[in-house]
Amino acid sequence: MSLSIIILAAGQGTRMRSDMPKVLHRLAGRTLLEHVYNAASALKHRDILIVYGYGGEQIRTQHEHLPVTWIKQAKQLGTGHAVEQAMPEIPDNDLVMILNGDVPMITSATLKQLVDAARETGFGLLTATIDDPAGYGRIIRNKKGRVVRIVEEKDANGDEKSISEINTGMMVMEVKSLKRWVNALDNKNAKNEFYLTDIIEMAVKEGIGINTIEPGSAMEIKGVNNRAQLAEIERYYQFIQAHQLMRKGVTIMDPSRFDLRGDLEIREDTLIDINVLLEGRLKIGRNVSIGANCCIKNTIIADNVEILPNCVIENAIIGSGCRIGPFSRIRPGTELDENVHIGNFVEIKKSLIGKGTKINHLSYVGDSEVGRDVNIGAGTITCNYDGANKHKTIIEDNVFIGSDTQLIAPVKVGSGATIAAGTTITRDVKKGVLAISRVEQKSIKNWKRPKKKQ
Ligand code: UD1
Ligand code: CA
Repeated sequence: MSLSIIILAAGQGTRMRSDMPKVLHRLAGRTLLEHVYNAASALKHRDILIVYGYGGEQIRTQHEHLPVTWIKQAKQLGTGHAVEQAMPEIPDNDLVMILNGDVPMITSATLKQLVDAARETGFGLLTATIDDPAGYGRIIRNKKGRVVRIVEEKDANGDEKSISEINTGMMVMEVKSLKRWVNALDNKNAKNEFYLTDIIEMAVKEGIGINTIEPGSAMEIKGVNNRAQLAEIERYYQFIQAHQLMRKGVTIMDPSRFDLRGDLEIREDTLIDINVLLEGRLKIGRNVSIGANCCIKNTIIADNVEILPNCVIENAIIGSGCRIGPFSRIRPGTELDENVHIGNFVEIKKSLIGKGTKINHLSYVGDSEVGRDVNIGAGTITCNYDGANKHKTIIEDNVFIGSDTQLIAPVKVGSGATIAAGTTITRDVKKGVLAISRVEQKSIKNWKRPKKKQ
C-alpha cells in the first residue's frame, strides 16, 4: 500500500493575533508548514496534499517550490471536513497519514513508527502523555486499556478533562475506511464543527484496533497556537541545531545565544562566539572564527578566516585567511580573495578585492575591481553613483591610496600608482605615477582668533 499524506493548514490561528495565516509564521527561518512538509517528505510516499483555506493564495505562493497537491477548503468547518476535501484526490487502496501544519517539530522517525503501527491493525494514532493537557482532545480508553474514542476539551466532562493522554492530531489509516467515516461525520458538538476525532469511535465500532504510539520527545508534538509557544519552540530548535554542530567539531560559545535560520555546511575547529545570526545558505570552512554579534547571510567563507565582532555580511564570498571587522559591512556581490583585510567602519558593495589587499578604516568601496596588494587608506570613497547611474572603479595591483581620497567613477587607477592623501580623482591615473589634487597649503602670520563679544 502506498502512502498519501494530508497536511491540514486551513485554519486561521486566531491566537497568533496576526493578519498572516498561522502556518506562514516562521521557525528558524522556515514556515511552520515547510517544517511539517520536510518531516513528511522523508517518508516513502505517493503524494503530499496540503489543505489550505484561510489566507489562501499566500500559502500557495510562499510554497511554490514544494511538489504537493493543493486542496482548497473554502470554509473552515472542522478538521473532519478539511480531510474530506482531500478524499477525491486519494486512491482507495492507499494508506493515508494526517498531519497538522502547526506542529513543526515532528520527526520523520516518529512518523515512520506511526505508519508501522497502522500497518499492524489498520489504524495508527500518535498520542502523548503530558503534564498540562488543557486544550487538547483526550484519549478515552476502556478497562482493557483499548482506545474507544477521543473527546475534545470543550465537550469533556470533569473526569475526562483530568486524563493526561492527549490526541496529537497525527494518525494513519486505510483510505477506504477513512472515506466511509468522514462521510458519516456530523457537527453536533460544542463547536459545531466536523471533528476528525469522531472517526476513532467509528473505527472501534467496526472492530478496528487503534494502535497508539508516543513520540520520542514531548517537544515533537507541541503545536504553535500563540507567539509565546512559537518563541519557546524556536529556542528549542536552535538548541538542537547548536548541539548537532558541536558534535561535528564546531565550538559554539553559548548554544543558547546561537541562531541558524537556514542551511549551514561547516568544517571542524570553527568557533562561533555569542549572538551570531546565520541565515540562508551558508558554507563555512575550517578554523574560522566568527566574533560576537555578527549577522551573516548566504555567504561562503573559506578556511582560516577571522571575523571580528559586529560585522554584517550578505551574499558574499570570503577567501581563506581574510580578516574582517570589527564593525565591517560586506554587501551582496562582494568577493574577497585570499588574505584580504577589511577593517572597522568599512563598507564593501559588489566589488572584487584582490589577494592581500587592505582596506582597514572608514571607507566605502562599491562597484569596484581592486587588484592585489593594494592599500586603501582611511576615509577613501568610491563615488559610484551620479544620482542616476552606477559606475565602476578599477584599481590595479600594488596601488597605494592615501587617506581621504575620493574616486569619481568611472575611473581607473593603473598598477603601482600612488594617490596622495586628500585627493579627488576625476580622471584615469597612469601606472606608477603619483596623483595629487590639493590646494597648496599657506600660512597666515600673526593670526588673531576672533574674541567672544562681552
Ligand atoms: C485538534 C484535535 C485535537 C488535538 C489537537 C492537537 C480535532 C477536532 N481536534 O484540535 O483532538 O488534540 O488538534 O493539536 O481534530 N484545520 C483545517 N480546517 C478546519 C479546521 C482546522 O485545516 O476547518 C487545521 C488547522 O489549520 C490546524 C489543524 O487542522 O492545522 C488542527 O486544527 P485546530 O483548530 O488547531 O484543532 P485543535 O482545536 O487544536
Ligand atoms: Ca491546534
